[in-house]
Amino acid sequence: MKSLEWLGSKLRFIDQTKLPAEEIYIVTDDFRIVGDAIRKLSIRGAPALGVAVAYGAALAALENSNENSSSFKNKLTSVIIELKSTRPTAVNLFWSLERINKVLDIFIISGVELTVAKIIAEAIDIHGEDIAMCNAIGINGAEIVPQDATILTHCNTGALATGGDGTAQNVIVTAHKSGKNIKVYAGETRPLLQGARLTAWELMKLGIDVTLITDSAAAFLMQQKKIDLVITGADRITMQGFVANKVGTYNLAVNAKMHGIPFYIAAPTSTIDTKIEVGDEIIIEERSENEITEYFGKRTAPVGVKVYSAAFDITPPDLITGIITDRKIFLPPYSNSLSVLK
Ligand code: MRU
Repeated sequence: MKSLEWLGSKLRFIDQTKLPAEEIYIVTDDFRIVGDAIRKLSIRGAPALGVAVAYGAALAALENSNENSSSFKNKLTSVIIELKSTRPTAVNLFWSLERINKVLDIFIISGVELTVAKIIAEAIDIHGEDIAMCNAIGINGAEIVPQDATILTHCNTGALATGGDGTAQNVIVTAHKSGKNIKVYAGETRPLLQGARLTAWELMKLGIDVTLITDSAAAFLMQQKKIDLVITGADRITMQGFVANKVGTYNLAVNAKMHGIPFYIAAPTSTIDTKIEVGDEIIIEERSENEITEYFGKRTAPVGVKVYSAAFDITPPDLITGIITDRKIFLPPYSNSLSVLK
């Protein structure tokens, strides 16, 4: 299953808000539709966001290909700013748009036609690199998975969340494909249920034994010694190893430490923000309050109640056993091990 596919001059993507009930694909040549899809989480997951905004910029480049150089540059610059404003936490989105911006800066003096071609080529490269990084994460991570393992995961880190086959989920899938006996507990991931709607759907399609739990059941399962390993993804990792990921990840890390269970993060190196050191520097997205006060359109909380809806949380490095990446598994102290990426 491909969450994102470049069709030459259009982008095709699966509308993740409709899953698992309906598998609907949207084909567009309009970067605004890509931006809206990101805002409402039709496209989501840090690596997929990076790929999607690159293709969004490619669509904008094609749309403006009849402009003169200076107007093309101005228009593309504002599209990049607009796409950067869609979601604040996943660094992949900014990493990707900075690459597109660099291409724009380098090639615009050689004319619009060449710049359009180079922007499209860069977006295709970003996508290709993401596919390769997912494969490498799967291979590197599968090594730490025991022959018989029950793994707890959170949110969705599969093919839907990336341009390839996933990050944390691809560790699970690669271990399963290598003949290991894998069982998965998937936290439903309140409030938008990426675990229930997306991870359970993907793992079932892949023939992997998956059991859905409420997020709040995780500690009880750990206490009963039913979890061997926790693996989640990341939206942004700092140079000291602080990890922003879907809210609830920190709860799992604290509980894993308490119960002596290894807690791993799996992410491509494009998710490591080499510009920042600690978690406080990461902007945590706050979502609209109706994502908590309503349950799929039906009001479930009293009108007027105060709401705080953080979409992500920060897990500190001392709770993380290892960071599985496409390059290698980075081990603590992360301020030393990650410094090779600077
Ligand atoms: O709000 P979302 O669904 O975009 O959040 C996604 C996550 O938190 C994922 O765990 C993370 O992006 C890694 S996806 C490989």
